[in-house]
Amino acid sequence: MPNVLILHGPNLNLLGTREPGVYGRVTLAQINAMLEEEAAARGVTLRILQSNHEGALVDAIHAAVGWADGIIINAGALTHYSYALRDAIAGVGIPTVEVHLSNIHAREPFRHTSVIAPVCRGQIAGFGARSYLLALWALLEEK
Ligand code: DQA
Repeated sequence: MPNVLILHGPNLNLLGTREPGVYGRVTLAQINAMLEEEAAARGVTLRILQSNHEGALVDAIHAAVGWADGIIINAGALTHYSYALRDAIAGVGIPTVEVHLSNIHAREPFRHTSVIAPVCRGQIAGFGARSYLLALWALLEEK
């Protein structure tokens, strides 16, 4: 049974009320419930963490070694500048899919760069909460 770590980065705890024109009205709890339902249907075990702290996300990636078969990460704004997250993903060597609710490439220029993309298997952006489901499917296809 595959084990997958889901990581949500800074400010994603505010989903539902945060910039609904960009991110919609779906809450993080609803996204997590959707993922749990899909995981249960596919025999996948999830661990889910949201943190506003870069170091906590790095620690979670390290702690995934020996447990996780894959990681799905929405690193929030850390996507655009966190070399620490990039090095953590590269360092553990666990297949990782990068996710964004919004299409970061259609937004402000600073969002067009993802420093974690080169160490991820792929990136899914722009499909709202469904981006996470697509990422889970992609990860399971990798196995
Ligand atoms: C985001 C996009 C990032 O640019 C932003 O900083 C976020 C959310 C997304 O899911 O669309 O916090 O990762």
